[in-house]
Amino acid sequence: MAGVPVAYDPVARAHDADAVGRQLHLRGWVHRSRSSGGILFLTLRDRTGTVPVTVRRDAVGDAAFAAAERVQIEGSVRLSGTVAADPRAPGGREVRADRLEVIDPGEPFPIFKDQTEEFLLDKRHLAIRGQEFVHVFRLKAEVLAAFRDFMVRESVMEVTPPILTGNAAEGGAEAFQLDYFGRPGYLSQTAQLYLEAMLFPHERVYAVTPSFRAEKSRTRRHLTEYTHLEVELAWCDLDELLAFIERMVEHVLRTVAARAPADLAALGRPPEELAAVRAPFPRLSYGDAIDRLARDGFGVRWGSDLGTAEERALTLPERLPLFVTRYPSELKAFYMLRSPGDPRTVEAADLLAPEGYGEIVGASCRETDLGRLVERIRAVGADPKDYEWYLDLRRHGSVPHAGFGIGIERFVWWLARREHIRDTTPFPRTPARHTP
Ligand code: 4AD
Ligand code: MG
Repeated sequence: MAGVPVAYDPVARAHDADAVGRQLHLRGWVHRSRSSGGILFLTLRDRTGTVPVTVRRDAVGDAAFAAAERVQIEGSVRLSGTVAADPRAPGGREVRADRLEVIDPGEPFPIFKDQTEEFLLDKRHLAIRGQEFVHVFRLKAEVLAAFRDFMVRESVMEVTPPILTGNAAEGGAEAFQLDYFGRPGYLSQTAQLYLEAMLFPHERVYAVTPSFRAEKSRTRRHLTEYTHLEVELAWCDLDELLAFIERMVEHVLRTVAARAPADLAALGRPPEELAAVRAPFPRLSYGDAIDRLARDGFGVRWGSDLGTAEERALTLPERLPLFVTRYPSELKAFYMLRSPGDPRTVEAADLLAPEGYGEIVGASCRETDLGRLVERIRAVGADPKDYEWYLDLRRHGSVPHAGFGIGIERFVWWLARREHIRDTTPFPRTPARHTP
């Protein structure tokens, strides 16, 4: 086999309707292995799936058989064989090998059943080979592709804001600070301020960047590094912004249900459930949300933040995402626009995912007036000098505009029904760990 050029088949080819009787050339990793009665039963895995392979000494020869017997779980092989129908095999097919070459027999694979969560996180670089992770990350790739596809359709241009910054946009306390050649630097918490700058020449812009939050919150929905998709739209008010978000969520859910039905089903999410999510999504003002929560026994009143427990209570029975609108300005960032009819609230909305998952989108109209913006920056205890370049945007053709950020891991967490958000990212960063 070595040295002979062959075109390799994807493993999934063995499950095609017309595959029985065909000779296939496969390569991949040993997913499972057992021997019985002098026959070796392997499960071969590549990126397209798995297939059972039977290896007999008389078919492959003594040397290849002996080598195959020594292959560990996750060892790598190339083989050729014929597809046979086998009602006992998962998928009803097996490949009967007639040639086999071991590429790397591997050392004993450290991951097996019933290991602790900590151990699996230490071995995350190997754990991500597991089938659950394969489904989650394929789904995540489809989610990102569907978001980008939607932006192209809506003429929103992708731009590349910086991650290393000189000021903390969302609030200093939750920013990771670093030493930037002797001056303070920060890891970006949001690309928003840069997107606002790029909006003046391009009007409709978006970016997908890592955002960092130095929050010590050990919850099932917080990461210290996450994938942030942010959009900024010129000439946009709150109703138009929420309609854009509805179209986007609908498009992404429908696209993913069509393109990744098997991954969704394997993760316990029937794809039809996602395809059935249709706009308009229900809207609840912050004031009404507080009243409802207080009636349900939560110790909240006007001004209380909605945390994990409150958002869970609001969305647990829901099938559609829910917009909570017009929060008190003290709860929200300095750049948000005051509601025209109510000086206490801002033109902002969070989109909460149903079934208890909670906030996935943070959205708002931006303050356009220079004086009020400076006032708000002072009110949150920041120095307007640190925002000089941002304030320039209000000095040269300020226009109404609005935008939002969606946490891709939060979104996938909901779709894939994961217990913990860390299982929607291959190498999770949490207060407890930043390796591997
Ligand atoms: O609500 P946030 O903080 O909003 C902003 O950063 C705005 N500047 C975005 C904008 O308007 N351009 O964050 C937006 C979203 C949240 O709704 C949530 O989905 C996600 O980012 N997010 C997190 N995801 C995982 N771990 C964390 N610690 C997160 N913090 C926010
Ligand atoms: Mg938020």
